[in-house]
Amino acid sequence: MAFFTHELGEGFDLALRDPATVDGMLALTQANIERLRAWEPWAQGEQTRAGLVAYTNSLMAEWVAGRSLPTVVRSDGKLIGSITCRISRPARAAELGYWIDGRFEGRGVVARGCRAIIGELAEEGVRRVEIRTAAGNERSRRVAERLGFRHEETRRRAFPVGSVRHDLVVYALDIGTGASARQASARRADASQRSERQPRLPAPARPAPGQRSEERQ
Ligand SMILES: CC(C)(COP(=O)(O)OP(=O)(O)OC[C@H]1O[C@@H](n2cnc3c(N)ncnc32)[C@H](O)[C@@H]1OP(=O)(O)O)[C@@H](O)C(=O)NCCC(=O)NCCS
Repeated sequence: MAFFTHELGEGFDLALRDPATVDGMLALTQANIERLRAWEPWAQGEQTRAGLVAYTNSLMAEWVAGRSLPTVVRSDGKLIGSITCRISRPARAAELGYWIDGRFEGRGVVARGCRAIIGELAEEGVRRVEIRTAAGNERSRRVAERLGFRHEETRRRAFPVGSVRHDLVVYALDIGTGASARQASARRADASQRSERQPRLPAPARPAPGQRSEERQ
């Protein structure tokens, strides 16, 4: 059973990207490999079960340490995509990455999933979320813009995907700075006093180093 789920409506939800997802995510990745290879550095090589097991285990370790919230997107329980974020606790910042099965593109599911994760991040004290993508990846840019992210900078030829060096666009969103953040903070304090809170993002087991550079989503 997944430790984390979040309903997105119309039979869609997010669940923790735990080891039980490996075979389904391998099949989904292989079915979408050509469209993923256009924009995802991690999709360039051969996709193997061993590689995905290692990647999923590393995601779980990062989640336990409070440095990641890795999720799968599901439609009526069937895997259809991935939305993952890396978290730097010292910077109170996170970076979102996402992809979805081609048959479910254009239905607003990724935007809904990202909104849910951004809500979780705000509750956990994150203050800044970034989305980085290739300048030519119009669909990905529209996700960021639809979510209210602002375009902060473009780095020339800074995003190599296969044999192409794309310009990298960086989008950012400030979160959790208003009244809702103060309410969330009060709820956190209250819950920790009662010592009964089960954190959705586990607290870091040890001091977290700075944000890592990891390409896979
Ligand atoms: C990038 C990617 C995840 C975007 O997926 P998406 O389905 O277009 O994103 P959303 O879930 O936000 O859906 C938005 C689309 O659904 C439509 N939509 C339908 N119902 C909607 C709703 N209820 N709410 C919001 N949008 C809705 C929107 O109009 C929009 O269509 P448009 O962009 O053609 O105008 C997807 O194209 C993908 O997997 N690409 C390959 C991998 C990739 O590029 N990953 C990103 C690397 S950084």
